[in-house]
Amino acid sequence: MSDMINVALPKGRLGEKVYDIFEKCGFECPSIKEKNRKLIFENEEKGVRYFWVKPSDVAIYVERGAADIGVAGKDILLEYNPDVYELADLHMGKCRMAVAGKNDFRDDRTKTLKVATKFPNIARTYYNSISREIDIIKLNGSIEIAPILGLSDVIVDIVETGKTLIENDLRPYETIVPISARLISNKVSFKFKNAQITELAKKISEYCAE
Ligand code: PRP
Repeated sequence: MSDMINVALPKGRLGEKVYDIFEKCGFECPSIKEKNRKLIFENEEKGVRYFWVKPSDVAIYVERGAADIGVAGKDILLEYNPDVYELADLHMGKCRMAVAGKNDFRDDRTKTLKVATKFPNIARTYYNSISREIDIIKLNGSIEIAPILGLSDVIVDIVETGKTLIENDLRPYETIVPISARLISNKVSFKFKNAQITELAKKISEYCAE
């Protein structure tokens, strides 16, 4: 096994901010800033190798050991429950998982509630906890359209600024759980690269402390 620390970063704006934090903590990799379509970058001297992966795939790379550590949203961790260690809350990428519906939505508890979502496990766990019978409609994006077109009664989705809801005449009714980005580690890597991962996690979590 190489001694490099392999880091899966979520491709996109959050991932770029996360990389900046790694850089400020002493794990820089200047080639990552080059404007090209490469997905893997390494700085041998610093012992780090970064991969850009789809945000929802970070946990898979880390769980299976293709990456030693990574940064994933708490939403993904709750939905897929990967077998990884959660090392730190980065207090960024903050949003919440919420139930939303049309402005005139009234819950009729005599009927099964139709819930459209990208997060069926989170939705199921939440509605089980309040003993509400539901029918899950799994969608992959643009969830807000579902109640407007009558496909569902409500949605369970991420709300960040709330703009998407407002602009589609929807309103949030319930917060299920607050979400933020988390530093995660593969369990075997944590054992065999413990000193490096612990040091890195300590620096990153100190930098990100609220
Ligand atoms: C997420 C989420 C909402 C939106 C919320 O969508 O599903 O649609 O962001 O943000 P806001 O509260 O700031 O308006 P995303 O951009 O991930 O796209 P998606 O519809 O493909 O899931």
